Amino acid sequence: MASFKVVCVAIFLSAFAYHSSRVDGSIAKSMYIDWGNQHTVIQGDDLPLVLDQSSGTGAQSKKTFLFGSFEMLIKFVPGNSAGTVTAYYLSSTGDKHDEIDFEFLGNSTGEPYIIHTNVYTQGVGNREQRFYPWFDPSADYHNYTVSWNPNAIVWYVDGIPIRVFRNYESNGIPYPNQQGMRVYTSLWNADDWATRGGLVKIDWNSSPFIARIRGFRPRACIWNGPNSISQCALPSSSSWWNSPEFSQLSPAKFGQMNWFRKNYMIYDYCQDTKRFNGVMPPECSLPQF
Ligand SMILES: *[C@@H]1O[C@H](CO)[C@@H](O)[C@H](O)[C@H]1NC(C)=O
Ligand SMILES: *[C@@H]1O[C@H](CO)[C@@H](O)[C@H](O)[C@H]1NC(C)=O
Repeated sequence: MASFKVVCVAIFLSAFAYHSSRVDGSIAKSMYIDWGNQHTVIQGDDLPLVLDQSSGTGAQSKKTFLFGSFEMLIKFVPGNSAGTVTAYYLSSTGDKHDEIDFEFLGNSTGEPYIIHTNVYTQGVGNREQRFYPWFDPSADYHNYTVSWNPNAIVWYVDGIPIRVFRNYESNGIPYPNQQGMRVYTSLWNADDWATRGGLVKIDWNSSPFIARIRGFRPRACIWNGPNSISQCALPSSSSWWNSPEFSQLSPAKFGQMNWFRKNYMIYDYCQDTKRFNGVMPPECSLPQF
């Protein structure tokens, strides 16, 4: 029953695949290109991330945030995207940086992309979880959202939560809540590791590779430096901390997440005992969501 509902949601979402004109933000207003601006340009709400042999493309938000919900609509490189990686992530700066990652690993024509997630706290990552999408992410725009508040980080794909990272500071595990982050997006050549572990290289005959970004909507607090948050443009400040979207998943969302993880998760660092020589990261023995 739960999985039937999720399938309906998925069909509904892909049928309407975000042709809605009600997009609050425009990329031109909120982001700028910081790499590869010789071969692409932001036009209103359309940012084509271009990768050719001269370079990839990267962009970042003009503002720095602490907590919020960060939506982006992305349409990935179609056809032969092997060796390419498209990233959508939040990061602070410095050697003890925090980072919340969505990365999308391309593949040969007809083979599935991989959705790769990770979180760094105080400069330490090694928390990868990987999934196959349940749709072709290059056929249309889909909604990739990071929701980050003092209690938890939730990664959403088309409204379905796929991963949660909880605040376990009380168990001595650092949590990102002190450093402001900017939002970044980029497309680059990662053919030394991305596709089938680096076995499949980029075919430059297929270049330029183009992924498209639009609909960036930060509903978030602006960070002005340590201990200073201003302008929380959140749905409603009173409901934010307690709303299901931002703190605890509703039973329905929880069911969707379990369905997704059961069927589409292909790697979980918490299961990789060999990698950690049996000494698993402490959060792995605590409830993950
Ligand atoms: C994208 O997903 C987020 C998280 O579920 C949701 O809050 C938001 O309304 C969605 N945006 C669009 C344009 O559908
Ligand atoms: C690419 O396709 C192969 C074969 O189906 C699959 O094993 C792999 O997980 C896919 N994704 C990536 C990014 O390698």
